Amino acid sequence: MAPVATSPAPSSVPLVHQSEDVVKNIKAKLAAARNGNSSDVAAVDEEAVHAKPDGQKLDEVSDAVDAVNEYLGEHRDVSVPRDHDDEWRAAKSKFDEEKDKEAFRNYEDAADHVKALYREQHEKQTVAFNIAAREKYLGKVHARMTVWEAIEKLDSLVDESDPDTELSQIQHLLQTAEAMRRDGRPDWMQLTGLLHDLGKLMCFFGAEGQWDVVGDTFVVGAKFSEKCVYPDTFDANPDAHDARYNTELGMYKRGCGLDNIMLSWGHDEYMYWRLKAQTTIPEAGLDMIRFHSCYPMHRDGEYRQFFAPGDEQKMTNVIAFNAYDLYSKSDDPPDPVKLRPYYEAIIDKYVPNGGRHAVLEW
Ligand SMILES: [Fe+2]
Ligand SMILES: [Fe+2]
Repeated sequence: MAPVATSPAPSSVPLVHQSEDVVKNIKAKLAAARNGNSSDVAAVDEEAVHAKPDGQKLDEVSDAVDAVNEYLGEHRDVSVPRDHDDEWRAAKSKFDEEKDKEAFRNYEDAADHVKALYREQHEKQTVAFNIAAREKYLGKVHARMTVWEAIEKLDSLVDESDPDTELSQIQHLLQTAEAMRRDGRPDWMQLTGLLHDLGKLMCFFGAEGQWDVVGDTFVVGAKFSEKCVYPDTFDANPDAHDARYNTELGMYKRGCGLDNIMLSWGHDEYMYWRLKAQTTIPEAGLDMIRFHSCYPMHRDGEYRQFFAPGDEQKMTNVIAFNAYDLYSKSDDPPDPVKLRPYYEAIIDKYVPNGGRHAVLEW
C-alpha cells in the first residue's frame, strides 16, 4: 500500500469545510435566517421542532438542525456539472441479465456480524449524533492522498454490513466500474463506480465503529421507515420515542426537498461532499454517490413526502447506478495493476489540478 502523503494539498483545491469556517458560516446563516434574509429556512418545520418533551434544550436542537440543513445546502457551485448525454439513464444494465437477483441482499440469513452492525446503527443514528458527525468529518482534513492512494488505503477494509461479498474494497470498486465499462456507460459514471465507496476511509479517521460508516442509510429526524432492514431494532433509538422526530414529517416540511433532509451518517454523504468540492464529476454522478445506500428511498419508494421537483430524477440516477454496485459482487476479481492506467486516465479528466497526481483532502 502506498504511504499516505503528508505534504500540503495544492492551494488551488482548498477544502471548503474548514472547521472554524463551518461554525462561522453556520452562525452567519442562522443570523441571516432570523433576520428574514434566507429563504431556505422554511425547510425545517419550526413548530415540530419546538413541540419538544420536557427538559430538552429546544432552541439548541432547532438551531443545530437549521445549521445542518443550511450547511448541506451550501457550496452547490463548487463543481461545475458537465454536459453529458443521458442515454445511460434509460439503458437497461446488461451485465447482470444472467444473475440470480434473489441471491443478493438476503438479510434474513445474514451473518451475525451483519445483524449486530445494523442493530447498533439503528440504535445510535440519532439527530444529535448526525449533527455532531457532520462537524467531525466534514470540518477538518483527515488525510492528504491522491485518488489511487486512497483506493489502496481502503483496500484493507472488509465491509461488515455487506452480506454479499468478502472481497476487499479495491475489488468491489473495480468490479462496479468494470461492469459499467462493459455495458458502455459514460466515463464519469465508471469513475463514480470506482470512487463511490471511498467514504469508507472514515474507518481510518476515527469512526466509532462501522455502524457510522457503512450499511443502508435512512432519514433521521422523522419516523423511521418500516422498509429499512431489521426495522424493529429502531425501537432502541431514542428518537423513535421523541415527539419531534417520530411522525411522518418529523422536523421537516412536506416537499422540503432532498437537499434539506438529513440521511443517517455514513460513507455516502462524506464522499459526496469531498468529491463535489474537489472533482468535476457531474451532478448525476454525485447523486449516485450520495444516495446509493438509501434503499428505502431509491428501491422501496419511501420518503416521497419530502420530495421536491427534481428529486425523482435523482432517484432515477441512483437506480441506473445501483445494479452495478449490487450485482457485480459475484463477478471475477479484477486485476488492479492491469486496470490502473485505464482508470487513471479518467481520473485525469475529472480531477482538476493534476488528475491522478493531485493530492486531495480527505
Ligand atoms: Fe457503498
Ligand atoms: Fe458499493
